[in-house]
Amino acid sequence: MTASVRVRVPATVANLGPGFDALGAAVGMHLEIEIEPRRDSIEVMLEGEGADHLPTDDTNLVIKSMNAFFDHVARRPPGYAVRVKNPIPLASGLGSSAAATVGGLVAARSLTGRTVPQAEMVALATSMEGHPDNVMPALLGGLVVCYRGATNELQHFRLNVSERLVPILVVPRLGFPTEEARRVLPSAVPFEDAQFTASRAALLVGAMTSGAGSDILAEAMTDRLHEPHRLALMPETAAVHEELRAARLPVSLAGAGPSLLLIVPRPEAATRAEQVRRVCRERDAGWRVFVSEWESAGATEG
Ligand code: HSE
Repeated sequence: MTASVRVRVPATVANLGPGFDALGAAVGMHLEIEIEPRRDSIEVMLEGEGADHLPTDDTNLVIKSMNAFFDHVARRPPGYAVRVKNPIPLASGLGSSAAATVGGLVAARSLTGRTVPQAEMVALATSMEGHPDNVMPALLGGLVVCYRGATNELQHFRLNVSERLVPILVVPRLGFPTEEARRVLPSAVPFEDAQFTASRAALLVGAMTSGAGSDILAEAMTDRLHEPHRLALMPETAAVHEELRAARLPVSLAGAGPSLLLIVPRPEAATRAEQVRRVCRERDAGWRVFVSEWESAGATEG
């Protein structure tokens, strides 16, 4: 068993608009986990988002995922004190569950000193969390394309986002459960909408990696597969989304929502953020706007 352990895991934005269940990117907002080995007791301390209501027993997502790792390697430490600092808004489309799941697994790996191949970590995290487009960038950083291979095994292709671009995260007062935002999706879509969205997803990967301008980004972040159905459930988000779209800003739902993501050229970031804040303020005082960065590192230890 090692000495103390520290792990940082980034928030992630899945889909990025047209990349439904396929694209995800890590951003510069980090869940932190610190663990001190103890002789025989377990203590869980929470700080930040959700600290006032999340459980501190083994139903806590970080602890659940640590336990899953301990079972996986058949090694369970006698005790520990774990402190989780979470700045990632919950149920908001910013990958808080993926960060907790990945964080718990990586922290448990560190604590036990067991070497587990990355592919196994990905499989463990995905089987627990269910959304590879959040889990992969949380673990690996960068912009990740997730897909299933011929025998349904999970594959990924990792890229770096251009330094010329900046993500802006726009978070409403209340979260929205992802399961509900999935339940509303149709079982089939018109061929034309599939073609429209495939072209935007391809354009988006090119635009994000090369650092395209706002016009291209605005076009590239348009989706017809899931956003129209989901925005219908989220009137607050839909209103802000519509207004930002009308102003020709590059905006999409963040993951399954209800937060929004803008991707803007770096020189425009401050002006755009102010413009977004104005739009949000007119509707509800509870919106938060974060000018963030891309995170290329993924989950880190030490
Ligand atoms: N791709 C998933 C969805 C992400 O849109 O439902 C969930 O965070």
